[in-house]
Amino acid sequence: MIRVQVPATTANLGPGFDCLGMALKLYNTVEMQQIATGLNIELHGDGANDIDRDENNIVYKAAYKVFNQVGYRPSGLKIRLNNQIPVCRGLGSSAAAIVGGIIAANILSGSKLGTKELLELANEMEGHPDNVAPALIGGIVVSASDEDGVRFIKIQPPTELKTVVAVPDFQLSTKLAREALPTQVTLQDAVFNVGRASLLVAALCQGDLSKLTYAMEDKLHQSYRANLVPGMKKVLAAARLAGAKGVVLSGAGPTLIAFADDNFELIAKVMRDTFRESGVMAKVMVLEPSPVGARALERV
Ligand code: HSE
Repeated sequence: MIRVQVPATTANLGPGFDCLGMALKLYNTVEMQQIATGLNIELHGDGANDIDRDENNIVYKAAYKVFNQVGYRPSGLKIRLNNQIPVCRGLGSSAAAIVGGIIAANILSGSKLGTKELLELANEMEGHPDNVAPALIGGIVVSASDEDGVRFIKIQPPTELKTVVAVPDFQLSTKLAREALPTQVTLQDAVFNVGRASLLVAALCQGDLSKLTYAMEDKLHQSYRANLVPGMKKVLAAARLAGAKGVVLSGAGPTLIAFADDNFELIAKVMRDTFRESGVMAKVMVLEPSPVGARALERV
């Protein structure tokens, strides 16, 4: 039995739409074992009742991407999933499933593929690299992709940086959240985001959290998605007042995430309370960045 641990991820970090992401210390585990015949999928934890237990399961599909690429044919497969990452909430649950399946299948089939090849497969499945890259390699990852593949650079998160996440009790599909976006934006808005995203990467590299409030502003996706998350603007404003350095929609939402170096409990409380005033029950967690990505824990 192979057991792989995969971190949650937060994508975009505000202005870095589809190209910035960070791994968080909240993990799913994927166990995989070759069996004599058939497919046996066991589910535990978040979303266990809603996740496919057949060939449509994402972990299974990801595993077969690897098996097909390396020409491996397992006689049968047992997959056991233990999920802590909330499903469809903007914390990279699908990226974790893809990366977990790919890593476990690579080990099961003799570790023939390297990180770059695994990232290409994961990106092909997910469609953008900003969750799968940090899920695979950990830390903060800057990535850009086109038909020639993914280019990426990992940054170690600043040591004093922690996040507060407020996870609403409803799901929001990435597909729906992407449909809310315009097909064209103005040059002014594009320049706004290029400046912020560049400043954000430089600030994170230097550990300068004082720039985050400005550097995490965005004009490419958040305002278009605000209607999908009741209370979003109020929660963002309240978290800033409570001391968050930067606070944004996590990935495609509906989770909101605050970056801070202090006042974590207060930020968590105001985010939860402000969501509640808008009729949304939210679970709050203080999560540290995960410097490591997906890794095999042990063979049991
Ligand atoms: N960059 C993606 C988006 C992340 O915002 O749609 C969601 O998976």
